[in-house]
Amino acid sequence: MDESSKDKSPFYPGQPVPVELFTGRQEVVERILTRGAGQVVQGKPMSFFIQGEYGIGKSSLASYLQNIVEKEYSLHSIYVSLSGVHDLQGVSEAILQATVRSGAFDPRISEKINRWLSRYIGKQQLFGLTLNLEALKKDNPSITSYLGILDFLRETLMKMGDLGTKGLFLIFDEINGIASQPEFASFLKGLVDQNALSKKPLPILLMLCGTEDRRAELIKSSEPLGRIFDVITISPLKENEMENFFNKAFHSVHMTVEKEALSTLTYYSAGFPKIMHLVGDMAYWIDKDRIIDMKDTRDAVIAAAEDFGKKYVNAQIYDALKSEDYRSILAKIGKEGPDRLSFKKSDIGSLLTEQEKNKFHNFLQKMKRLNVLHSGNERGEYVFNLRMVRLYIWLQATIESKGR
Ligand SMILES: Nc1ncnc2c1ncn2[C@@H]1O[C@H](COP(=O)(O)OP(=O)(O)O)[C@@H](O)[C@H]1O
Ligand SMILES: [Mg+2]
Repeated sequence: MDESSKDKSPFYPGQPVPVELFTGRQEVVERILTRGAGQVVQGKPMSFFIQGEYGIGKSSLASYLQNIVEKEYSLHSIYVSLSGVHDLQGVSEAILQATVRSGAFDPRISEKINRWLSRYIGKQQLFGLTLNLEALKKDNPSITSYLGILDFLRETLMKMGDLGTKGLFLIFDEINGIASQPEFASFLKGLVDQNALSKKPLPILLMLCGTEDRRAELIKSSEPLGRIFDVITISPLKENEMENFFNKAFHSVHMTVEKEALSTLTYYSAGFPKIMHLVGDMAYWIDKDRIIDMKDTRDAVIAAAEDFGKKYVNAQIYDALKSEDYRSILAKIGKEGPDRLSFKKSDIGSLLTEQEKNKFHNFLQKMKRLNVLHSGNERGEYVFNLRMVRLYIWLQATIESKGR
């Protein structure tokens, strides 16, 4: 079987996973549906903060939920990515654009939005309609404040009233660039509080996605935000969930996975959806006989580690660690295991040669400056900022020690 005769790969590194392959998270989904969507359709706005590290599956959860709340709760989804947005003006623009785009897949909705905003809609673009914000702001100068946004959303929902739409599912994803701005915190608080206070609150299911430290930053700017959000932490997937995922993915393209190969895939994925897709995709392309065996997965893991490293880690870490001693210290930390996020300076120290020991302090400082490590709560404790990086360092150390 050559590459040209392969089906579409069921792996999506770097994209939200399609609904059919979405795995696990059932408790979280249940909670957001019953405590969130179920309340919103009865008129009570609800807000969630989905927290978890990069690549754990926040955006995928958001996209999976969109599908359900649209079908089962008649909520209309507006997905706002705030990636690259650094000020409030940008936030408002992103919300307005996302609202216009939100009808794109339903001609009944796009027609309504079209008719309503036709005066402000610019040229047809590659990805559908865009809004001419300058024109909109001229007619409605307050459109970029939270009050203006609330009015705009209320109007959006009203336009869909005769389609049976019961509320909005508003997602703010990729908030990293804006979360530390105090004005964003006030915007959020204004939006939520003002809505709650109004005579007939707009039924909004609001969902923010970001890392835990971004949530901390938000709350630092505005204490009351702490009580506004129901916080949900996205954890790594469990062993059997990963197995389900790989089986489902490979079966969908008429391939099977041998038992041992499956455990290699799940072991190296270590619960991380992002790694699952990277490794799975590699195995998919490496395989020649529609049976994923040990050899396929071993090659796939090495290829995935190299790929991930090339894209994310090398430039930031390995290239910056020119000295051999630094690299061998890193390898010794690496071998401590894929999911131990923290280590004690003294524990690693005892594994080092005299020469490495002399450089250990400087090594740790450098790793901190590179944003790889931060100090933990305990004395002499160091913690990896990103589990992904930690995993790669472990992969790298394991591969090196097997003497490729
Ligand atoms: N529940 C899941 N089941 C299967 N694959 C998933 C799941 N969640 C995420 N993924 C995959 O993992 C990778 C990272 O997911 P993503 O949603 O982009 O994470 P985040 O938004 O937290 O950075 C993507 O390749 C995505 O397809
Ligand atoms: Mg994301």
